[in-house]
Amino acid sequence: MSYVMAIANQKGGVGKTTTSINLSACLASSRVKVLLVDLDSQGNATSGLGINKNDLEQDMYDVLINGVRMDKVIVPTAWKNLWVAPATMNLAGAEIDLIEKKNRALSLKKQLDKVRDNYDYIIIDCPPSLSLLTINALTAADSVLIPIQCEFYALEGVTQLIQTVDRVRTTSNPSLFVEGIVMTMADTRTNLSNDVVAAVHDHFPDLLYKTMIPRSVRLGEAPSYGQPITVYDPKSKAADAYRALAREVKRRAK
Ligand SMILES: Nc1ncnc2c1ncn2[C@@H]1O[C@H](COP(=O)(O)OP(=O)(O)OP(=O)(O)O)[C@@H](O)[C@H]1O
Ligand SMILES: [Mg+2]
Repeated sequence: MSYVMAIANQKGGVGKTTTSINLSACLASSRVKVLLVDLDSQGNATSGLGINKNDLEQDMYDVLINGVRMDKVIVPTAWKNLWVAPATMNLAGAEIDLIEKKNRALSLKKQLDKVRDNYDYIIIDCPPSLSLLTINALTAADSVLIPIQCEFYALEGVTQLIQTVDRVRTTSNPSLFVEGIVMTMADTRTNLSNDVVAAVHDHFPDLLYKTMIPRSVRLGEAPSYGQPITVYDPKSKAADAYRALAREVKRRAK
């Protein structure tokens, strides 16, 4: 049985893509098959796993709008057990083109259902908005993982995101649930970081993952080499953290 997890937070720059890339890579190195679906026209998850966007003839836009089968756009990465359904700038047009479609929230689910049995885990990297692409991700997913950055306005928007999850549950995906919250860019030496973690814990005691992703320059560097942190700097604290997160995700997904 495959498990589909959307990584979402409409707030920009909170670590969605970094978490998508590194969680996917860590799961794949634990000998399960993983597909990372890039649903952001920035295509950072695609390039972050070493895929050259200029080489692609088709991307998720073609899947969602032109009905191209997902197995036609999925590309292998340099790493065993890890595939990407890529995004390019083209995907920016999908928001508008989806509006014209009947069952516009269901486009991704319909396509993903045809390939989901080929993978153990499918991770969807969402764009920084609660737009139709994110709604498609939430409709196709079993669960949502919310990365929250350890900074002052961290909780802003999380309530709205959880309301959106509730709305999707009542309209198109009754079994959707919030899988968990992972704190990113944590710096336990600062009061602010610790205060934010405490606040998130107060609000969502059952959802907070034990694993926190530390702030790490290496995590910012790795994508420019097209590598996950476990390849770029396997002995770093950040690599340890993403391996621990993958273990926690696997335990919860059981
Ligand atoms: N733990 C971390 N430590 C240091 N830098 C990080 C960490 N996680 C992410 N970053 C950096 O912060 C920036 C934003 O991260 P990322 O792209 O993962 O966020 P995002 O939520 O996907 O952003 P967007 O909303 O634009 O899609 C990137 O430059 C990334 O390299
Ligand atoms: Mg992103």
